Amino acid sequence: MPGDRSLEARVLARLDGLSRQGLTRTLHPPAGIDLCSNDYLGLSRHPQIVARFAGAAARGGVGSTGSRLLRGERTAFAAVEARFARFKGTERALYFGAGYLANLAVLTTLTEEGDVVFSDQRNHASLIDGIRLSRARTVIVPHSDPAALSNLIERTPVTGARFIVVESLFSMDGDMAPLADYARIARDAGATLIVDEAHAVGIYGGNGSGVIEEAGLDANECISINTAGKALGVGGAFVAGPSWAIDYLIQRARPFVFSTAPPPAQADAIDASLDIIAAEPARRAAVLSKAALLRARLGVDGRSQIIAVVLGDNDKALAVAASLQQQGFDVRAIRPPSVPAGTARLRVSVNAALADADVNRFADALTAVLEEMGVCAVSS
Ligand SMILES: Cc1ncc(COP(=O)(O)O)c(C=O)c1O
Repeated sequence: MPGDRSLEARVLARLDGLSRQGLTRTLHPPAGIDLCSNDYLGLSRHPQIVARFAGAAARGGVGSTGSRLLRGERTAFAAVEARFARFKGTERALYFGAGYLANLAVLTTLTEEGDVVFSDQRNHASLIDGIRLSRARTVIVPHSDPAALSNLIERTPVTGARFIVVESLFSMDGDMAPLADYARIARDAGATLIVDEAHAVGIYGGNGSGVIEEAGLDANECISINTAGKALGVGGAFVAGPSWAIDYLIQRARPFVFSTAPPPAQADAIDASLDIIAAEPARRAAVLSKAALLRARLGVDGRSQIIAVVLGDNDKALAVAASLQQQGFDVRAIRPPSVPAGTARLRVSVNAALADADVNRFADALTAVLEEMGVCAVSS
């Protein structure tokens, strides 16, 4: 039994503080029509993918039993990495147990003291944590502002390397980064562009490999992080890029070296998921058409599958979410620190499996709740 009463008192005071600010989190399993998951293509329950996962687990067991550098390695990992690299158009790819770990790996391994990281103001916590753990200096860049980025690069002295770090599709706002501009700026400055494609991989571009493909960029010019637990429906993440980067991550990335490899059956399941993405482009078209429908109904600009309904106040966001949940819609309130203070919101996400009728019913319900509560929402 832990003995430090003062620690207990401090923790209880912190929990009380969270409660008074409307920031207490509770854990709720899925309930109602999915308007909040990242299962954008509806692949997490796809029978072909589930069968590959189950078959691989039955043959090879559940756990990998060790780090990839030791007995945790399997041919299925190497095979799916080679396949993902072809899909992404890069020389190589490396699979991690989570996107969070992949971001920590890239940012702590490739950066060194004397380097400068130019990081978009709205980057995801996993990118921020990776940068914080690195020894590089951080310069925060105003959101999606190439002119400001150029300016900051010009004004910031650097003895080592420069990095530009962005999400291609921002997870909480649903807007796209001006990637082509960033790639040009990176080229001119001799900087390395690190792109988190967590919410874009599987959906955008001719083959569905992400916004790097859609923007017509050479994927080997960037180092990208591509989660497999969102549109791909499984779990883990691929870092994709040139061979030198992947070789170095295998040697030195602490989240890769000092962590048990993911369950090997995940590699088989992802292989099946990439089959479906190639064979069924209609899923990608469907998610974007549902997004267009909901955006039109709510009067929100943009084109992605993530729609932010910003309510500002934490309690208001919770109340609007609770009312919609009671009507059978699974939407969740997103509060600080996931988003900046004063911008609590519903992060609505649509998926290919949603019926148009449900999208319309949800738009009606949301509009009615906002009117009833007299709440003004700013959407992006
Ligand atoms: C932009 C972004 N990057 C990285 C991650 C982390 O990925 P994972 O959930 O696979 O750890 C997330 C997860 O929500 C994310 O939204």
